[in-house]
Amino acid sequence: MLQYIIRASGETDYLNMYPEEFADFTLEQETSFINKNCCNQNEMMIACFVNGKVAGNCQISFRTRMKDRHRASVAIAILQEYWNLGIGTKMFEEMIQIAEKRDGVRQIELDFIEGNTRARRLYEKMGFRITGIKPDAIRLKDGTFVNEYMMLKRL
Ligand SMILES: CC(C)(COP(=O)(O)OP(=O)(O)OC[C@H]1O[C@@H](n2cnc3c(N)ncnc32)[C@H](O)[C@@H]1OP(=O)(O)O)[C@@H](O)C(=O)NCCC(=O)NCCS
Repeated sequence: MLQYIIRASGETDYLNMYPEEFADFTLEQETSFINKNCCNQNEMMIACFVNGKVAGNCQISFRTRMKDRHRASVAIAILQEYWNLGIGTKMFEEMIQIAEKRDGVRQIELDFIEGNTRARRLYEKMGFRITGIKPDAIRLKDGTFVNEYMMLKRL
């Protein structure tokens, strides 16, 4: 997973971290991260494997407070080699089903970085609509500031 996310983060500016930010992650920290995200009622990760190697992953997290437990959030990444094969669509279908089965969940939320037209296309196809904008949310290495958009799908 660590090798995969380092590679995925280097292939696009549309993920939230640069590859070098994972450099200090030990195998133990990664194991504990995976355990937290796989063995927890409120967080779930799905990984996609091609020939035994991770090709992509997605995560769904459920809020748990009385005032916000109707909300879920999702995130996704796939290695460039496997873009446009429908993997993202399949992963979203799974995450939406998971959210629909959970009692009381009314909406799924996500963010995407301005310019990520492929992601936006996928999210709109899956029924998400833009609800807001966070100006200058992301600062790239070259100093450029980029907006982030918030999206929501009602269940
Ligand atoms: C965004 C991402 C998850 C999409 O996954 P995917 O497996 O490529 O998605 P799919 O193949 O299911 O669907 C991609 C859709 O985008 C469309 N598309 C492809 N290139 C496009 C482009 N340049 N502009 C707009 N739409 C585009 C495809 O036609 C397809 O739509 P369709 O099913 O209606 O034909 C993947 O590209 C990725 O991981 N990108 C890098 C990381 C990232 O951006 N993650 C999301 C952060 S918010």
